[in-house]
Amino acid sequence: LEILLKGLRRLEYRGYDSAVGLVSHNWDTKYYLCFVDLLEQQDIDLDVEFDVHLGIAHTRWATHGEPSPLNSHPHRSDKNNEFIVIHNGIITNYKDLRKFLESKGYEFESETDTETIAKLVKYMYDNRESDEINFATLVERVTQQLVSLSQAHCFCLVRSDHKLSTDHIPVMYRSCNCGALPRTDQDTCLFPVDEKAVEYYFASDASAVIEHTNRVIFLEDDDVAAVMDGRLSIHRIKRRAGDYPARAIQTLQMELQQIMKGNYSSFMQKEIFEQPESVVNTMRGRVNFDNNTVTLGGLKDHIKEIQRCRRLILIACGTSYHAGVATRQVLEELTELPVMVELASDFLDRNTPVFRDDVCFFISQSGETADSLMALRYCKERGALTVGITNTVGSSISRETDCGVHINAGPEVGVASTKAYTSQFVALIMFALLMCDDRISMQPRRREIIQGLRVLPDLIKEVLSLDDEIQKLATELYQQKSVLIMGRGYHYATCLEGALKIKEITYMHSEGILAGELKHGPLALVDKLMPVIMIIMRDHTYTKCQNALQQVVARQGRPIVICDKDDYETIKNSSRTIKVPHCVDCLQGILSVIPLQLLSFHLAVLRGYDVDCPRNLAKSVTVE
Ligand code: F6R
Repeated sequence: LEILLKGLRRLEYRGYDSAVGLVSHNWDTKYYLCFVDLLEQQDIDLDVEFDVHLGIAHTRWATHGEPSPLNSHPHRSDKNNEFIVIHNGIITNYKDLRKFLESKGYEFESETDTETIAKLVKYMYDNRESDEINFATLVERVTQQLVSLSQAHCFCLVRSDHKLSTDHIPVMYRSCNCGALPRTDQDTCLFPVDEKAVEYYFASDASAVIEHTNRVIFLEDDDVAAVMDGRLSIHRIKRRAGDYPARAIQTLQMELQQIMKGNYSSFMQKEIFEQPESVVNTMRGRVNFDNNTVTLGGLKDHIKEIQRCRRLILIACGTSYHAGVATRQVLEELTELPVMVELASDFLDRNTPVFRDDVCFFISQSGETADSLMALRYCKERGALTVGITNTVGSSISRETDCGVHINAGPEVGVASTKAYTSQFVALIMFALLMCDDRISMQPRRREIIQGLRVLPDLIKEVLSLDDEIQKLATELYQQKSVLIMGRGYHYATCLEGALKIKEITYMHSEGILAGELKHGPLALVDKLMPVIMIIMRDHTYTKCQNALQQVVARQGRPIVICDKDDYETIKNSSRTIKVPHCVDCLQGILSVIPLQLLSFHLAVLRGYDVDCPRNLAKSVTVE
């Protein structure tokens, strides 16, 4: 039970509306309640000995059916609990399947789409033409019916046949994006594994089981892994000739302490304060500050092709999209190519034309975001070269792109993305530098940026030392309903990202506004009561930003200005400033966003919210 509960905790970032642990094949041991916290508070005796060796647990992010005990996973096939299922993803044709199964006499207990799988398995099993049917065939037949099963999904199916001894409890895991983690003494393994393992763990993410084993097999799409009689085997659905499922065991470097909170009150706070190190990890071994060169091993076979392309398209969602917005200008400057920045969902909705000579970037912390993954497949089908900018080794986006850059920021657990944003930012800048490394005319600019990267970690530390001042500001703002954040040029992305951070964890309304658009509408919101934050830095938009400041002040606004610590003019003209160190213009956005990360964190704490687990959100959005 302890293993299951700890594992659920680690996976909470994927969704945490409701949690359930199941031990043994007895339905009576289904524990459920919303949130793992409450599950832990239930009177569960962790030392109790169970005469079984199998447990499954699931933490749910509701898509069909409200978060409630009834809708918590696992779901079962029938009152005898013959088949039990947990599932990630969406079955879009579940209503038709449910109608069909109800017409056959199945009684549903929940409102979920998942329960359909359990009932369907039982139906297919009971209607098998021979007793010889094996589990892989059964799963294949079931998935054939789930025609609209969303692309990113997996389910774990347990057969708890009371007639079988405990040695024979089969577990199935139908993939995508999951790992099977056997603890064996072998280095590589072909399937079926000859030796029995001591234990097997199946998890959506290695962080759930990393303290038990770091030896992982990543399942691929259409893999079915099964454990029977202590042996693991992997089968392929729709197996084709030559498609032999041999998978190497990978040894992960992830350490437990990397995913623990340490002395911080939340993962988000820890991750904000990790940024001086995480940006160094993004640059490690890639940027040579002595001879001003950049090497990106993951792109080396494709860089020539990328340099010849017609345009760059950056595709992402949420914060990762903002990293694209933040670096677009410097990408355009250094590559001299047209750069489009696209929200994955909108890009797909528009059926955006994509050509063979386009290069499409997919920026994603998790590497599992369904919209970005769909957009990736869309671009691949049209022949574009695809590049992943991800933080999760082995994720779907990093596996399916032609090449890419791992940002190496370390595991990000807080739902609100912070260190991944700054590392994505740095990764895209490194790419821009690489694209123009042989352009003589660009060398002074390249040197300026690379030397900016060299001092970045220290400047980030300096910004983080403003924490107390920002906490004080938060005490003045936390009861407000709304915060507007204004800026332009390199800092428009900071406005969008700061506003997203505030709305997602404090539930206050917040809007990022392009200062150039002020007079086209948003200025009407400004009065002496409306909290306004402005970002004014000494770059090419400085004079225009000063004008915007005057416009806001003229409407009795009293903006809080994030500015350069040596910008005496702005400091003199503003009632309140947050002074950050100066950096090369295209990197300054990394320094201007950190005060807003800190502000959102303190606002959320003061408002009494769980910073790491904002309501209605999941860390990894694996459904469309
Ligand atoms: C906000 C946040 C989300 C993610 C978005 C994309 O703090 O974290 O907006 O940025 O869901 O996720 P990834 O980067 O995993 O594709």
